[in-house]
Amino acid sequence: MKKKVYIKTFGCQMNENDSEKILLLLKDEYEPVSSPEEADLILINTCSVRKKPEHKVYSEAGRYKSLKKKKPELILGITGCVAQQEGENLIKKLPYVDLVLGTQGFYFIKSALRIHRETKKPVVFTELKEDFSFPLILPELDLRKKRVTAFVSIMQGCDNFCTYCIVPYVRGREISRPPEDIIKEIEALVKIGVKEVTLLGQNVNSYGLKNKNFPSFPELLRMVAQIEGIWRIRFTTSHPKDLSEELIKVIAEEPKICKHLHLPLQSGSNKILKKMNRKYTKEEYLAKVKKLRALVPEIAFTTDIIVGFPGEEEKDFQETIEVLKKVRYHEIFSFKYCDRPFAVASNFPEKIPEKEKERRLKIIHEVQEKITQEIYESYIGKEVEILVEGTSKKDPSWLMGRTSTNVIVNFTSPRLDLMGALVKVKITSAGKHSLKGEYLELIKI
Ligand code: 5AD
Ligand code: SF4
Repeated sequence: MKKKVYIKTFGCQMNENDSEKILLLLKDEYEPVSSPEEADLILINTCSVRKKPEHKVYSEAGRYKSLKKKKPELILGITGCVAQQEGENLIKKLPYVDLVLGTQGFYFIKSALRIHRETKKPVVFTELKEDFSFPLILPELDLRKKRVTAFVSIMQGCDNFCTYCIVPYVRGREISRPPEDIIKEIEALVKIGVKEVTLLGQNVNSYGLKNKNFPSFPELLRMVAQIEGIWRIRFTTSHPKDLSEELIKVIAEEPKICKHLHLPLQSGSNKILKKMNRKYTKEEYLAKVKKLRALVPEIAFTTDIIVGFPGEEEKDFQETIEVLKKVRYHEIFSFKYCDRPFAVASNFPEKIPEKEKERRLKIIHEVQEKITQEIYESYIGKEVEILVEGTSKKDPSWLMGRTSTNVIVNFTSPRLDLMGALVKVKITSAGKHSLKGEYLELIKI
């Protein structure tokens, strides 16, 4: 009988994708379970991009300490960004942890488990190689429960060194995966019913630039679009500085590419953007948005904003608000600046008091809430194409999917056997975070 593994994932889509890979790596020995009490192996796949998710690791690990007392053979592992950041230190902080596997180290989880079994000692793998070659791990139906959408990581790491960011330190240098591997993985996903893929990378726009024989990101998108059975393509994250004319062209020309772009602004003030080492100005950012809108009028933008970066004055903050009002994002993800280990901004003077950061965050939320509401209301009466992902979370007699612009739509339908189908839906009302609608007709299944 197989042993049981429970994995708790924090953080971004890349981490979700890594957790799936871990389960696939372990599949011969372990089957996934949904409660830690049942498990022989518990893994916490961690995020350290901001303070909040980092702290969750410690409370989560604490929960399993008593489980380990009851079940001494239980193995507890920490993987991902906090494991990478802390390394051996984590064993000092949490002496009951057995495995610490960093962002490349988790690929060696089977060896780590073997060594742990033999030595009964904690195992720490946190080496980061600049020329690491990511193993090709093909998906399987039983692990990736039947579903319609999937993440595919096309690259790892980041070379940009934005001054607030820990990612280049915990994910290492930018490494693109070979295009053949990416295509093989997507073809395998098609075989298990996936219709929509989201290509992942810290900065997908610089995909392949370091490798002479690799396609550029726009070329990769065209290759993925040729895969039969893939109906929709999304990608994230795009760094505004690397958003090329060629990419704009392919978004406009390729019907399978969804009309949504996550384009992190971080700040609308040139002074702050410079301090952040973002390498674009507000004007350059806005010019790219304008160009995209001219070619793809229906395109939806979302963004990330940091408030209270060291030295951010009221007038800088107001410039960020101005950009929000100009671009009119569908949605924003906004964060209070926090110091991160290794990140150079941690040593910048003129830190903003916590109370002031909170005030600015609240204002940003209010401004954006109104914009999102207006945009969502503008969908009412429109007919949109939805890829059905399953049933609605709140009411299983409703179906759920997304528009090409990445808005969640819950809708009524005379038939419920439409998972994986592309359907036309009429929008009837708008909520805060989703739309409601009614089924009109089947486009394809
Ligand atoms: N403080 C606050 N927000 C941060 N982010 C990254 N680092 C920090 C930090 N030190 C935000 C950025 C990034 C998102 C993933 O997290 O907005 O785009
Ligand atoms: Fe961090 Fe900047 Fe790299 Fe994004 S581009 S992961 S914000 S360093």
